[in-house]
Amino acid sequence: MSNIKKVAVIGTGVIGVGWIIRFLAHNKIVYAFDKNINLKKKIILEIKRTWPYVKKLFNKKKLNLKNFYFFSSIEETLKNADFIQECAIENYELKIELLKKIGNYAKSKSIISSSSSGLLPTRIYSKCNNPERGIIGHPFNPVYLLPAVEIVPGKKTSIKNLDIAKKFYKSISMNPIMVKNELPGYLSDRLQEALWREGLHIINEGYATTEELDRAIEDGPGLRWSLMGTFLTFHLAGGQTGMKHMLEQFGPALKLPWTKLKAPKLSKKLSSRLISGTKKQAKGKSIQQISNIRDEYLVDLQRLRKKYENKIR
Ligand SMILES: NC(=O)c1ccc[n+]([C@@H]2O[C@H](COP(=O)([O-])OP(=O)(O)OC[C@H]3O[C@@H](n4cnc5c(N)ncnc54)[C@H](O)[C@@H]3O)[C@@H](O)[C@H]2O)c1
Repeated sequence: MSNIKKVAVIGTGVIGVGWIIRFLAHNKIVYAFDKNINLKKKIILEIKRTWPYVKKLFNKKKLNLKNFYFFSSIEETLKNADFIQECAIENYELKIELLKKIGNYAKSKSIISSSSSGLLPTRIYSKCNNPERGIIGHPFNPVYLLPAVEIVPGKKTSIKNLDIAKKFYKSISMNPIMVKNELPGYLSDRLQEALWREGLHIINEGYATTEELDRAIEDGPGLRWSLMGTFLTFHLAGGQTGMKHMLEQFGPALKLPWTKLKAPKLSKKLSSRLISGTKKQAKGKSIQQISNIRDEYLVDLQRLRKKYENKIR
């Protein structure tokens, strides 16, 4: 159980709004701030767009927008919050200064959690007072539907605060992944980034389009991944003796040039292949239309997964 009721969200872009929606769905009082002080209307539109999916996934009856406050002052936003989710853009200098400011205005015992995708917490909290309350709470887009959150400690984070954060995220229907020690990119983005970089090489060298590479995941590994990750999947790839035979058979392939890993240069040519490729894949549909399809699918998929995940975990 978590006693935390009042939460603040700093930075209300894609991820900040996602957190706002998840918090509201779990009856939290949400105070929000963005350096662009004109975002309130846009946020409310997004809350309303996503509500049918959120309502279905969490069996909620009604949306209580009265619990949502958007302030034009960061001081006002932070003063009553017990948990703060920082969601400004991914940049060391910006986060160091912003977290220093948050530390100054927040209550001294409030937990501060950064949504960073891979920056080191010890560094981003280096100017924040009471750094024992600073953690990473790295979510996945769309935050209002996906349960994963990576909790990463900095060198000064206290165990007690990690535990409070874990309980809090569980109370909003998330499955926290406790990362033992900080590492750049944490766990999930290390894996995602390897796939992304490999894809960039393949597109850069002209072997496939963005659509062909997406198909290569969607129809194969992607279907398996929502139930079991790479390691358990490869255990099955080894037949009756599992991973042992898998390693005997595919171990030698580790020496073949099957990966380039170091990212290619993001040249104009490569960027335009990525942009025109994904535009073609969208087939004229807007980001909002595609998001609706994705959200409906993710709700149905998670309902299906519930039937099977207890058997495998
Ligand atoms: N987009 C993703 O898929 C994703 C997934 C997981 C984590 N994240 C992480 O979440 C964070 C936010 O990413 P995003 O995709 O929502 O970015 P975004 O660009 O959509 O939104 C960032 C918001 O922060 C605001 N902002 C910038 N500086 C600020 C400041 N000093 N004070 C207050 N507001 C400020 C901007 O005005 C903007 O509204 C990043 O750290 C990112 O790495 C992103």
